[in-house]
Amino acid sequence: MAKVMVFDHPLIQHKVAMMRDKNTPSKEFRDLAREVAMLMAFEVTRDLPTQEVDIETPICPTKVRMLGGLDVAIVPILRAGLGFVDGMLEIIPNAKVGHVGLYRDPETHEPVEYYCKLPEDIDKRKVIIVDPMLATGGSAIAAVDFVKKRGAKDISLMFLIAAPEGIKALTEAHPDVDIYIAAKDDHLNENAYIVPGLGDAGDRIFGTK
Ligand code: PRP
Ligand code: URA
Repeated sequence: MAKVMVFDHPLIQHKVAMMRDKNTPSKEFRDLAREVAMLMAFEVTRDLPTQEVDIETPICPTKVRMLGGLDVAIVPILRAGLGFVDGMLEIIPNAKVGHVGLYRDPETHEPVEYYCKLPEDIDKRKVIIVDPMLATGGSAIAAVDFVKKRGAKDISLMFLIAAPEGIKALTEAHPDVDIYIAAKDDHLNENAYIVPGLGDAGDRIFGTK
């Protein structure tokens, strides 16, 4: 069964609240997205394996634990998912980055694919798919389909805001993934936008409207 974790950390709540405000300009919105990504990355990577390593501190030899055994692939769903990549890379600098290009058809709200480039060894990595918004779930389900087709097995998804409808659709389609959400909202409106949400995440990040 999919694990669904909603963050209740005050720092994350505060930053998401600022991102929701329609008066927050793109530059500040991007900065906040990077900061929230860094904060969420701590929890999303909690299960990464560590191994014992011998080192010497200035005082004495000692055994320490360091990351090892499982590398990470960050996969943003274009284009809004790009807003999370820099923050994730600051915390996990050795991660590889794949890209899945999907946009929602404005009439049907179904995802339309236009690009997919993933690391060759994605099947050996912990895959973290990132996107600010989980609305109907169509884009996230298609992105998981892509990475599974390339052999990925250990898959987590990280969203800023999710609607209950999207959580249900994603967990039903892919019960084996873990889902991390900064905030769970109320419902979708007639245009399949999240209410209260933050509007169109891509437009807010890139200033296109
Ligand atoms: C947004 C968002 C998700 C998708 C969520 O992207 O970034 O990818 O919608 O909606 P869904 O759960 O109903 O599929 P959008 O299609 O607006 O493309 P963009 O990132 O290029 O703006
Ligand atoms: N995509 C967005 O960017 N915002 C929503 O509320 C729903 C889908």
